[in-house]
Amino acid sequence: MTGAASGIGRAVVHRYLREDAQVVAVVRDDGDAAALRAEGCEVVVGDVGEYATAAGAVARARDAFGGLDAYVANAGIWDFHKRIEKQTPDQLTAAFDEIFRVNLLGVLFGARAAIGALRETRGCVIATGSNASFRAGGGGALYTSSKFALRGLVMQLATEFAPDVRVNGVAPGATATGLAGASALGQAARRLNADASRMDAMRDHIPMARIAQPEDHTGLYVLLASRTDSAYVTGAMFLSDGGLTLAT
Ligand SMILES: NC(=O)c1ccc[n+]([C@@H]2O[C@H](COP(=O)([O-])OP(=O)(O)OC[C@H]3O[C@@H](n4cnc5c(N)ncnc54)[C@H](O)[C@@H]3O)[C@@H](O)[C@H]2O)c1
Repeated sequence: MTGAASGIGRAVVHRYLREDAQVVAVVRDDGDAAALRAEGCEVVVGDVGEYATAAGAVARARDAFGGLDAYVANAGIWDFHKRIEKQTPDQLTAAFDEIFRVNLLGVLFGARAAIGALRETRGCVIATGSNASFRAGGGGALYTSSKFALRGLVMQLATEFAPDVRVNGVAPGATATGLAGASALGQAARRLNADASRMDAMRDHIPMARIAQPEDHTGLYVLLASRTDSAYVTGAMFLSDGGLTLAT
């Protein structure tokens, strides 16, 4: 489970533990490790943009738990709707590398590292997409294209890994988390939930008339991890967006 230290990932970890799953939590910062260990997780510290992080997580699942049933690729960064006209060409290059490295290459690395172990268990990959995997306006050009590409990746890997391993995604709508931006855009310290006016503006577009809490999405991660309850589901990305995509 990547991006396990905060937000949606942290909520999914808690839900998986309540479902009696054994969890390898992948976190970027060492400071996040102790709390997750105290909750019963194995912890791997690393950058999802490095293949070694995914390989280390898979190896830890095998060593500690005897195998891997689901690889959840959830880590991601945003771009705070930054328009490309407001980025210099150098910034655009650096921000492209940074955002696609986390949001797309991180998932590719996870799938590549996990496929051998997942074929042994007939397990699955679950990726966190976004409403921005389906519509314009869920971010800027870089975030939106990274999440559309992720949806394509889910579909393609589903065909490559079938029939042994299912590959699916969950696509949240606006959710109250501290989602950060790209450092190449000067946004590494910015947090989505610190911007009340942005959150209010998002809420006004949502038919369900509220911003999601991370816990709103966790049931889909349980469903998609289940060999029995979603046995025939692969290549799908399930919106969990309060109807946002219908309304825009
Ligand atoms: N919050 C929303 O409104 C929203 C909407 C749609 C999709 N999402 C997606 O949900 C996922 C989780 O985001 P969140 O909202 O819970 O925010 P979050 O910031 O709480 O979670 C993202 C996690 O990814 C980790 N991460 C970022 N870069 C990393 C890297 N290079 N290596 C390892 N870990 C890294 C962060 O440390 C963080 O724990 C992301 O993929 C995001 O794009 C969020």
